[in-house]
Amino acid sequence: CGIVGYIGERKEVKSILFNGLSKLEYRGYDSAGISILKNGNIITKKAVGKLVNLEKEIINTDMKGFLGIGHTRWATHGKPSVENSHPHLSTNNDITLVHNGIIENYDILKAALIKKGHKFLSQTDTEVIVHLIEDAYEGDIFEAVKKILPLLDGAYAIGVFTKNEPNKLIAARKGSPLVIGVGKNENFIASDIPAILEHTKDAIFLNDGEIAILTKNSVEIFDLNGDKTEKNIKHIEWSLEAAEKGGYDHFMIKEIHEQDRVINDTLRGKVFEDNVKIDEITMSDEELQNIHKIHIVACGTSWHAGLVGKYILEQELRIPVEVEVASEFRYKNPIISNKDLVILISQSGETADTLAGLREAKSKGAKTLGILNVVGSTISREADGTIYTNAGPEIGVASTKAFVSQLIALYILMLFLGEKKNILSKERRKYIISELKLLSKKVKTILNNEKNIEKIAKLFENVNSTMFIGRNINAPIALEGALKLKEISYIHAEGYPSGELKHGPIALIHENFPTVAIATKSHTYEKVKNNVEEIKARSGTIITIASEGDEKIQDISDAVLYVPDTEELFSPVINVIPLQILSYYVAKSRGLDVDKPRNLAKSVTVE
Ligand code: G6P
Repeated sequence: CGIVGYIGERKEVKSILFNGLSKLEYRGYDSAGISILKNGNIITKKAVGKLVNLEKEIINTDMKGFLGIGHTRWATHGKPSVENSHPHLSTNNDITLVHNGIIENYDILKAALIKKGHKFLSQTDTEVIVHLIEDAYEGDIFEAVKKILPLLDGAYAIGVFTKNEPNKLIAARKGSPLVIGVGKNENFIASDIPAILEHTKDAIFLNDGEIAILTKNSVEIFDLNGDKTEKNIKHIEWSLEAAEKGGYDHFMIKEIHEQDRVINDTLRGKVFEDNVKIDEITMSDEELQNIHKIHIVACGTSWHAGLVGKYILEQELRIPVEVEVASEFRYKNPIISNKDLVILISQSGETADTLAGLREAKSKGAKTLGILNVVGSTISREADGTIYTNAGPEIGVASTKAFVSQLIALYILMLFLGEKKNILSKERRKYIISELKLLSKKVKTILNNEKNIEKIAKLFENVNSTMFIGRNINAPIALEGALKLKEISYIHAEGYPSGELKHGPIALIHENFPTVAIATKSHTYEKVKNNVEEIKARSGTIITIASEGDEKIQDISDAVLYVPDTEELFSPVINVIPLQILSYYVAKSRGLDVDKPRNLAKSVTVE
């Protein structure tokens, strides 16, 4: 999750690395480690948990040197443990490496390396990289790295050095950020600017497919063919606080902007051309085939993901799905049999009610499955299987990227069960996967349209009550839109399936009462449009989320937010994005503490 590296002439490389890692602490991590070259030997220290644990390991160790790498880990493959934390070493301990990202084909590579005699100590995907480099090494670390990078499917940012070449630090990236800090008689690498900001403000941002050779007084960058590329040095003007947020004003908007990447990270390693693979589901094919009913149990935003999940699973698999708020489920003596699958959706994997729901389900003999972001969390340890969402640490209390990654995980689960239970044909699976792979680009288009959404936020300036409406698979997105707005702007907001409008909420409509309607292309489009007209006829302010090209909707809307066309099944992923951005700008314009709204906690571990 966090990388820092140093080459130079200061002896205190240990504290440079340690301080660098501490500047990345805000991002969240579960373990940490550093490797330093001292008198021709690589010394590596690692610890699980907070950085103070690593500090205890290194405080009395003589680790003076001029070259080193450090890492804070946020687990993706393999639970948090000393073995799984980085840096990882080659079999003969000559090469050390830190990595961010996910290597999708690590299992195939690992099997081949084991045959060649390589010894693996961890369950990580990362470890294969250092062994591949060892295998390719013929006296030039740069050449070895360059040679093996094309073998890696997936995403990486790496820092690596060998004791045989004490004057070189190598860095490379594809799909995960990496920056080089340029100093005087010293150079740095880092996953994020804050790690190096106290030493230098001159940075070179690596692009995908670039490899860098750092010495203490030079930085050279090459493409994968070995051709040198010229890069400009960028002078960073950010304060430390701004740098932590990647230059954004708040973590929430930073995380909103990560969502195009998060979608791919959730799909990565799980989704292939016409099938899916989920390593952490250990249930047998027979157990999976036996499932005749699904329950989804969750809280807050994760519950909304569950409500979308009901549509996804029922529509494609025709298996009945019940979705329940965890605090209700746990006390209702739920009707569950051993042919039921109970899915727990939780970003943290620690929410007290969701955990209690899991235990209740297990006690009644059901199979359980977590859709979780935090590897090694309590729910992951107790459930029969897990799908990790790989959204990375989420800092904003109002969940954004975790929600989108949960939706993606639900599509993956649908594909998985559809295959195991012989419900979805190969063609259908292939089609769904190809559509899933288009989502990232579509989300990016909306993110690029942020300025428009910011303008529309002005319609909420003097408002104290609002409503969000949608139908079918987008009814839960109306709930989520309302939750986002109320959480961070403290404006009262209700979410409703739009068909319910005339059964009560329409009484609320007046001029200064905005309604946000999700009116993208769908089999209920005309129905939603009728609801919009009913609101307009009563002088309500109406903001519609509509599919690109739907110009007619402008006639009955005060503002339209256009989103790229997508099939109804996938539309929640697209439609939630403008709602998140809208809430953000409404709250921001009110000058509120967007990342830490009053009275709310990121993870609710008490009942
Ligand atoms: C808290 C957070 C929400 C989150 C909910 C469930 O209320 O503020 O953003 O959706 O807990 O958390 P979980 O970690 O279980 O997804």
